[in-house]
Amino acid sequence: MDVLANINLSIAVAMTVLSLSTVGGACSVIAKVRRAKEEMRLSKEFFQSTFDAAAVGMAVADFDGRYMKVNQAMCEFVGYSEGELLGMSYHDITHPDDLADNVSARALMLDGKLPKFQMEKRYVRKDGRVVWALMVVSEILDKNGRMIASVGQMLDIDTQKQAEQALLESRRQLRELSHHQKTLLEQERKHIAREIHDELGQRLTALKMDVSLLRIGFGHNPELFRMAGRMRELAEGTIEVVRQIASNLRPAALDLGLVPAIEWLLDDLQRRSEICCRLYVGDDELAMDEVRATVVFRLVQESLTNIARHARARHVQVSLKRENGRLRLHISDDGCGFDPQAADKLRSFGLLGMRERVLALEGTLVIDSSPGRGTTVSIELPLVAGGGS
Ligand SMILES: Nc1ncnc2c1ncn2[C@@H]1O[C@H](COP(=O)(O)OP(=O)(O)O)[C@@H](O)[C@H]1O
Ligand SMILES: [Mg+2]
Repeated sequence: MDVLANINLSIAVAMTVLSLSTVGGACSVIAKVRRAKEEMRLSKEFFQSTFDAAAVGMAVADFDGRYMKVNQAMCEFVGYSEGELLGMSYHDITHPDDLADNVSARALMLDGKLPKFQMEKRYVRKDGRVVWALMVVSEILDKNGRMIASVGQMLDIDTQKQAEQALLESRRQLRELSHHQKTLLEQERKHIAREIHDELGQRLTALKMDVSLLRIGFGHNPELFRMAGRMRELAEGTIEVVRQIASNLRPAALDLGLVPAIEWLLDDLQRRSEICCRLYVGDDELAMDEVRATVVFRLVQESLTNIARHARARHVQVSLKRENGRLRLHISDDGCGFDPQAADKLRSFGLLGMRERVLALEGTLVIDSSPGRGTTVSIELPLVAGGGS
């Protein structure tokens, strides 16, 4: 074979190979397209059947939130037919109180700041009933990555929400009941303290005076004289005990106002311990009703009892001031501190009772403490009932 023939043969072979491979390539492209089409059909079918059969409500909405597609569970959940919902937007069935949150969360998604969002919200059914759902909304993007629609899923959480609200309501009622009973207890304590102080105190004072006179009358009889002296001491001691009992029930200082009563508590702690106590009172007047003042007094008393019992502190500072119509109270010590979260689990009722009493007055209580760093109890509450912010 000459060279030319050789070249020709090579070209022919190359052409054959090329044409064969082109036919093969075309076949594989067609197969790929077919496969892609099949995959798309399957995925469409999968989406459709998942969408239709889903136990959770599902809806596809356009950019403005108008429903383009809804499933059966969604229709049942909100009580509208598919035909009715397709003419509506999420605005029409969202509870007015939840609409603003829904609109702003959706706006973040439309702005591309969130790929999806989730919220607990209320829907208003066609029959007017309000139902709770956990809604998760995610974006559907076009091939350029622009959002063209959204798909939302709503899980019926109405039963859980009702139970949660019943629980919250029951806690609120229990707190109110506890507050009411504590108020009655304080009234009763005040009454008993007065009775003990006035009635018993006066009678004992009269007895002491009579015994003193008797003692003078027994001047000629040393034995009776001594005995009358002991009786007088006994009467004096009993008067002191009665005063102490009355004061423990309800300190008379409370009748003078909250600040003198807290001063009295701090003096008492200082007298009984080595702890140096300081009180700071703001310039603004702290006028509040007696029930509120008594609660605040008991809060300080409970905190100081905790300091005396647990803190091993050297200094205590109580500050009391008015800010924006609210009372701000801080009780700090430089003692051993503790872990408030661990204390929560101990089922000890001192701190729990304090927290509940503050909540009943629409206030807040925060404990800032950790081992070795001392403790500060901060309380804030409105000075008048219904003055919560
Ligand atoms: N000021 C404080 N300093 C150190 N520990 C404290 C202080 N206040 C409370 N605690 C800790 O928190 C626990 C719970 O307090 P509380 O609820 O009043 O119950 P109780 O005083 O009956 O133990 C205490 O046992 C103590 O360990
Ligand atoms: Mg305690």
